[in-house]
Amino acid sequence: MDLRGKHLVLGLTGGIACYKSAELVRLLTKAGATVQVAMTDAATQFITPVTMQALSGRPVFTSQWDGRIANNMAHIDLSREADAIVIAPASTDFLARLANGLCDDLLSTLCIARDCPLLVAPAMNRQMWMAPATQRNIAQLRADGVAVLGPGSGDQACGEVGDGRMLEPEELLDDIVAHFQPKLLAGRRMLITAGPTFEAIDPVRGITNRSSGKMGFAIARAAREAGADVLMVAGPTGLPTPRGVARIDVQSAQQMHDAVLSQLRGIDVFVAVAAVADWRPAEVAEHKLKKANDTDTPTLRFVQNPDILATVAARADAPYCVGFAAESENLEQYGEQKRRRKGVPLLVGNIGHHTFGLDENEIVLFDERGAMRLPRADKLSLARQLVAAIAERLPVDRP
Ligand code: CTP
Repeated sequence: MDLRGKHLVLGLTGGIACYKSAELVRLLTKAGATVQVAMTDAATQFITPVTMQALSGRPVFTSQWDGRIANNMAHIDLSREADAIVIAPASTDFLARLANGLCDDLLSTLCIARDCPLLVAPAMNRQMWMAPATQRNIAQLRADGVAVLGPGSGDQACGEVGDGRMLEPEELLDDIVAHFQPKLLAGRRMLITAGPTFEAIDPVRGITNRSSGKMGFAIARAAREAGADVLMVAGPTGLPTPRGVARIDVQSAQQMHDAVLSQLRGIDVFVAVAAVADWRPAEVAEHKLKKANDTDTPTLRFVQNPDILATVAARADAPYCVGFAAESENLEQYGEQKRRRKGVPLLVGNIGHHTFGLDENEIVLFDERGAMRLPRADKLSLARQLVAAIAERLPVDRP
């Protein structure tokens, strides 16, 4: 329920992407928002107000002369309590009118008479998007403080391929949720390790662990929502990259170590969430190991992997470092010991070691002031609380 208590005005303008707005309204209401739909005449050619009314559970408005509003001022009243107006899809023509302050129908009048943020999701053919006039209008809207969501890129309804299509409803939902998060890490750069590592034995076998990567990915998303520039170095997971996050995929601990060290320049915060293998097989067989007979079993010899977190924390130019620990017992004692041993200002302890793959977690934060337990919650809520805790502790200027 990321949008609980939020009131949104969703404006539809003329474009084939209107069919996606039906799904968007469903996602927004499911996330807890109340949604007031307003449509231009052109939008009603693509999807009916009846559909949008059924999904939003509120009467849909299309005309500024609509008599259903008592004082006959739909253009003012509909957005009076709004936390934001979202135009999706935003057509080429509507963006042009918006950029120039034209207001000759209900939706454009609502936009100019607003007292809340305006978010637009452009939806058009790639040539219309690339047209100098459209680019000029978009630049003007950005300068006016309008948030431009997307557009996406790919197959278009006209059969062409390129930039200009409206973002998918799930992507729009993520961007709208992100819009409402406090920008606690604006201007900061964060590097995160996430997921398990995979240590090869031979070309088809290897050793890994049960980390799903969910906590690391949730932190990447929460940091991005808070305005940080986020780069993730991820071990093998099947998880999708959070919107706006950059990602380098690696397999082994050594590769994760090398990738992290090569990306450290300019990083303000390093968060080591990955479950890095402590050891790797000393030799990787070039060919698949074969059974020689029924009794022989192979013996593996291990060597130690580099400790990525300790290496980064020990550097003279170390960013603010956050470590993780999964302990099966004595968390309070082991957590603080590990924080000191790794030389980090903040360490996050997982309560129990059975949270791998689950959507919920329970964590304790250790810093020089002591231990602070966060109540059990879903990983994204915890990630947002952790981001807030990091932002609060971050030095104003890095040395
Ligand atoms: N970590 C790391 N590189 C490693 C091992 C761990 O960066 N080679 C990081 C993890 O991402 C985590 C923290 O160190 O943030 C703690 O890892 P953990 O495996 O719990 O600690 P260990 O040092 O391995 O201690 P132990 O196994 O004794 O609990």
